[in-house]
Amino acid sequence: MTTNPAHARLTVDPAFEVAPVNDRLFGSFVEHLGRCVYEGIYEPTHPTADENGFRRDVIDLVKELGVTTVRYPGGNFVSGYRWEDGVGPKENRPRRLDLAWHSTETNEFGLHEMTKWLEATGGNELMEAVNLGMRGTQEALDLLEYANIPGGTELSERRRANGADEPFNIRMWCLGNEMDGDWQLGHLNAEDYAKKARMTALGMRQIDPDLELVVCGSSQHEMPSFGQWEETVLTHTFDLVDFISCHAYYWPKNGDVTSFLASGADMDSFIKDVAAAIDATKARLKSDHEVYISFDEWNVWYQDSEPSKNPEGIGNWPEHPHLLEDIYSAADAMVFGDLLITLLKNADRVHAASLAQLVNVIAPIMTVAGGDAWRQTTFYPFALTAKHAKGGTVLEPKLASDRHHTDKYGDVDTLNSVAVQEQDGSLAVFVANRSADQTGEFEISLPAGASYTTVEAQTLHDDDPNARNTADDQNHVVPADNPTAELDVASGTVKVTVPPISWTIIHCK
Ligand code: AHR
Repeated sequence: MTTNPAHARLTVDPAFEVAPVNDRLFGSFVEHLGRCVYEGIYEPTHPTADENGFRRDVIDLVKELGVTTVRYPGGNFVSGYRWEDGVGPKENRPRRLDLAWHSTETNEFGLHEMTKWLEATGGNELMEAVNLGMRGTQEALDLLEYANIPGGTELSERRRANGADEPFNIRMWCLGNEMDGDWQLGHLNAEDYAKKARMTALGMRQIDPDLELVVCGSSQHEMPSFGQWEETVLTHTFDLVDFISCHAYYWPKNGDVTSFLASGADMDSFIKDVAAAIDATKARLKSDHEVYISFDEWNVWYQDSEPSKNPEGIGNWPEHPHLLEDIYSAADAMVFGDLLITLLKNADRVHAASLAQLVNVIAPIMTVAGGDAWRQTTFYPFALTAKHAKGGTVLEPKLASDRHHTDKYGDVDTLNSVAVQEQDGSLAVFVANRSADQTGEFEISLPAGASYTTVEAQTLHDDDPNARNTADDQNHVVPADNPTAELDVASGTVKVTVPPISWTIIHCK
């Protein structure tokens, strides 16, 4: 039996803009978790390691991926972390229990190493998280003084003595991590967290009023405290912060693949709900201040599967164990690409985002200790979206798509799409086909007088939606030219056929 195709039409008009694409939408996240740092970005014995122990093969892939900011050092890890452990001579750094991931942290890698690594990746921006779990305002202020004050105080001179003469000048700071979650060390209720975050923000602004501060929002759209948490936290901190965070991970919960394929619909309503909370608080407080969303953890993550089980046992605290090493399928990459489309569509409200995470841990880049670094299926939608959207402007997504039913999110658009006007005048259109069995007939209606003369499309798809890249078969699922793309200059339309469960970029020049 053949299934009828799904149809969608995107009407594009450069006169109607959503917002310029903020470079920070292409941020990522490096946590001291599993093999993200150790054997991921840092492996001094690796054949490609540089003088700092950084894997050059990974640096090359990070550059190719197009990452901008890097959130660090956690994640759940940060809520038990003492930043002082990671600075100073390596031989003096303590080994500590990492309670979040039931591992041993050697502290061989810390703040100085991270800033050097960011330089090596081409100058990516550090987004530093402070520990508001087991620690508090004073330790956050100490870290800020250590990192950003040029010199002349005990802490700033300590940084200089540790080899960094110039301050790190970190602009963006997260006020803790997922403080709404009962799994978080030092978890607090909304009122208590709001007061702690407010006190910390006030102190940090006394050191530097121009910092960009991110207050913790909800760690999932489904949290029972969602909404109330945002309202309470924003009420206490509104004029003191620049961002409120959102975190979201998707996987086929209870085997519901149809809903999973439409995860972008949930991310979209999550963003709209948080934006509404921001607007309501702003109105109630009669504030002129703007607060944006930092979607600083997002991805596909099979949370209930084996790689996500912590080590166990009072005597078993391994160093950088294999943890959360999900290997992504072609279907996962479609969902992932759709999440990127959703972030772009909301570029007026989402001014920063961090793909969680960067290497080995639910990551687009995987490494073999002593061996290869390779690209997961999810690498490609990120790299291609970053390449085409950075520096561009998101156009209003006038999309008319056929719809289908999902148990979790109700009726959803079968094809999701967004267009970005690139700096050079070309147009990039991203399309996700969320259907498991319907081919998509996708049409772009171009503005009258558009002067595009060529169109090219690349599609990421595999007839087996479970197909994956692995260390032994690294290029099994890669984007391929889509020969169906056709530009009809006379009618001002582009038509492309996209297979079920696929992600496509269409480029009109
Ligand atoms: O990214 C993995 C974990 O997911 C992070 O440590 C935590 O913040 C979130 O729950």
